[in-house]
Parts: sequence; structure tokens; C-alpha cells
Amino acid sequence: MFLIILLELNLKKINNMIQSIRGTKDILPDTVEYWNFVESSFRHTSHLYGYKELRTPIFEKTEVFSRSIGEATEVVNKQMYTFTDKGAESITLRPEMTAALVRSVVQNSLLHDSPLLRLWYFGPFFRFERPQKGRMRQFHQYGAECIGSANPEADAEVILLADSLFKSVGINEYKLFINTLGSDESRKLYLDELVKYFQKVKEKLSDDSKYRLETNPLRILDSKNEEDTELLKEAPLILDYLDNESKEHFDAVKDFLNGAGLTYTISPRLVRGLDYYNHTVFEFQSTVLGAQDSFGGGGRYNNLIEQLGGPSTPAVGFALGIERILLILENTDKLNKTENTTKVYIVTANQELIKYSINLANKLREKNIGTILDLQKRSIKSQMKEANKVGVKYVIIIGDNEISRGILTIKNMQSSEQTEVPLDSIEKFKFE
Ligand code: HAM
Repeated sequence: MFLIILLELNLKKINNMIQSIRGTKDILPDTVEYWNFVESSFRHTSHLYGYKELRTPIFEKTEVFSRSIGEATEVVNKQMYTFTDKGAESITLRPEMTAALVRSVVQNSLLHDSPLLRLWYFGPFFRFERPQKGRMRQFHQYGAECIGSANPEADAEVILLADSLFKSVGINEYKLFINTLGSDESRKLYLDELVKYFQKVKEKLSDDSKYRLETNPLRILDSKNEEDTELLKEAPLILDYLDNESKEHFDAVKDFLNGAGLTYTISPRLVRGLDYYNHTVFEFQSTVLGAQDSFGGGGRYNNLIEQLGGPSTPAVGFALGIERILLILENTDKLNKTENTTKVYIVTANQELIKYSINLANKLREKNIGTILDLQKRSIKSQMKEANKVGVKYVIIIGDNEISRGILTIKNMQSSEQTEVPLDSIEKFKFE
């Protein structure tokens, strides 16, 4: 009977517990240091390339994304977290940053003071996708955007920046796929041919691709469906429809990448899922990721700034999925625990001495020595156990005996060596 009541109580407790939203993840204290490692390495590398950080709000007017990413894309069509706020405004949690960043650049007239902007960002993004390994509804991206240069050296710069970012965290093996969508004119010419081809074989296309043919034919090239991939073998390729300007631009990008010793594969069917691209597009893939193997991508977007109300300005950039980068690091054993930064644990023998311990802890912290003390009135033995668990290097023991003799005992937890230090010279002790 007693057991049943206990079980019921526990069930009640479980029912009372609120779960996080599907596709979101808590970053707990023992993994947050990996996040900090990636973020600080990326921050450092961005600065080496002269990129400055820009932060925008987590939500925007829906128009920012629908006008730029494209109404017919999956991101806008199916994946956006859009709601009407209490002021009857349509608001969207940002599914990506490029459009939001461009909105900010235009609104704050950043191009006015500097015709070439090098910007980076890091933060959470939201897409309503079916969650699986490496695919979340709230995920994080690092991204970099180079705004103001139409030249192929800017395309090469952002790709080289990505390569340096990977190396900064220990990712030395990955695959870089590149393609070009050409100028607006080449792309239009190509699209006409592509649609003609698919119209002829329409009946054999998957239902998804039949729909794409009406809304966003380029996306058929991305299809993983078996019937579609068979048809794709015969489909026209953008590389055969490039005008001279597009060809020259793409050749120069490849030339710069060759010169920098970067290995890449030309992937003529790579089109990316967002509408704003023209000319160079690229993607980074890893073999350790499984189905969600693309851990970053980007390209040139020469029309977006004007489309969002700014001056006609060329730009190129990319974004990396942080969860996927961490998965790569996990799979290749590149994540090491950093050293515990709390150096000292003050063991207080009795409650009368706690005031003394609080003040001593504060003095040590002012000297940049990480210090903690017991907050649960535990026995000396339990406090020593806790100090061991936390992994501090030193324990300071404050007891009646010590205080009456005007000393403190400092124990080095690694060597077990104990030192008695006069009360008034504790601050001179070298906690190294
Ligand atoms: P994207 O390819 O949509 O591009 O996203 C970039 C990266 O974000 C992906 O390669 C992936 O690693 C990560 N990612 C996307 N969706 C998810 C998800 N649901 N869960 C986990 N990770 C995800 C963009 O967002 C463009 N704004 C990139 C860009 C910047 N183009 C020019 N500038």
C-alpha cells in the first residue's frame, strides 16, 4: 500500500514536470564549455580577417524573410515560426541571419560610412523542421557576410575564412562543393531550359518535384528521390548556360582557391535552398555526419540589399551550423574538457566562522583566484569530499583550532601537502 502511494506521488511529480519544446536542447554546464570553445575560436579567427560582430533581434517583421528568402522556398513556405502579435503585426522568429543582417545594414545606413563591410554573427535560429540528429527547431549558426564587393576575391575571402574557422577548432577534413548560378540573365536562360526539360518528363517526377516545377523548379536539382535523380542525369546543367561575365567570375574564384591550396569539387547541381543567391554558391560537407552532412553553406547575393530597400550593393557570405560542428568534433574526439577554473574550496569547521569564510573568499576572488565555500552547513568530511569532486587544487581549512592559533591550514589536493599560513599573510600565499 505504502509503495503504491509512493509510486502515485512520483507519477504526479513526473506529470507535473514541463518538458522543453520538441527540437530544442538545453546546453548544460558540462557541454557549455564546448560551445564557448567554438565561439571564442570563431570570434578570434573572424577578427584575424577583419570581420566585426553584428547582433540583431531574434524576431523580425515577417516581410524581412518572405521578401528575401522567397515565398516559394521551404524555409518560408513550411518552416517559419510566424505569429501575429498583440499589435496585429506579423512577426517571425528568424530562420536565418542574412536577411535580418541586411535589414539592419540598410536601416542603420552602415554602407554610408563604409562601402565595404565585413560582418560576422553567432546566435540561435528557428525552423519548424522534423527533428533528427543534427536537425533542430532551435539551432545555432555562426555566419560571415562581406558586403560591398562584386569581385571574385571577396568570394575567395569568405571561403578561406570558413576554412580558417574549421582549422581553428581542429576540423581539418571536410569537403567543399562549389557551383555558380550565374548572372540573372544566365540563370533565367537556364531556368527556361530546365522547365522545358522537366515539363517533358513531368509524369515521371515525384509528387514533391511536380509541385516544385510549378513553384521553384531549381529545387528539383536538390531532390534525393530515386525517380527524380534518374531524370536529373539528363537534365541541362547551369554551367552550359553561363554568359562570359559569369564564366569569368567563376573561373577567377576557382583560380584564387587553387592558389590558396584549397581542395574543392565542382557540383553542377548545387543550388541551395534560399532564393537570394546568384553567381557563386558553396557548401561544406562532412562524412561523419550521416544524413545531415552539410554543416555550412553560402554564396553570393548581389540583389538582396536593393530588394530590402538599400542601395544596389553586391555581397557574399556563408553560415555554419554549430550543432553540426560540435557533432563533427565529438565524432573525431576533438573535444577536450578544459581545466576547472575554481581553484580554492574553503572548508569551514563551524557556523560561527562562516562570516570569516565569506570575507576570505571575496578577498581571494578580488585577486582573481576562483573560490567557493560550503552553503549547506555540511560536516568537514563532506566538505572535503565536495572539494575533491569539484576538482579544486587547494582547500583552506578554517577551524576553531586554527583561528585560536592565528593560522589557516592550506591543503594542496594534488600533492596532499599541508601548509600552515598566518591569518594575516593568507593573501600572499601563491595559489598556483
Ligand atoms: P543554410 O544552408 O540554410 O544557409 O544554413 C546554414 C547552415 O545552418 C546549414 O548548413 C546547417 O549546418 C545549419 N542549419 C540549418 N538548418 C538547421 C537545422 N534545422 N538544425 C540544425 N542546423 C541547421 C543560410 O542560413 C544562409 N543564411 C547562409 C548564408 C549566409 N548565405 C549567405 N550568407
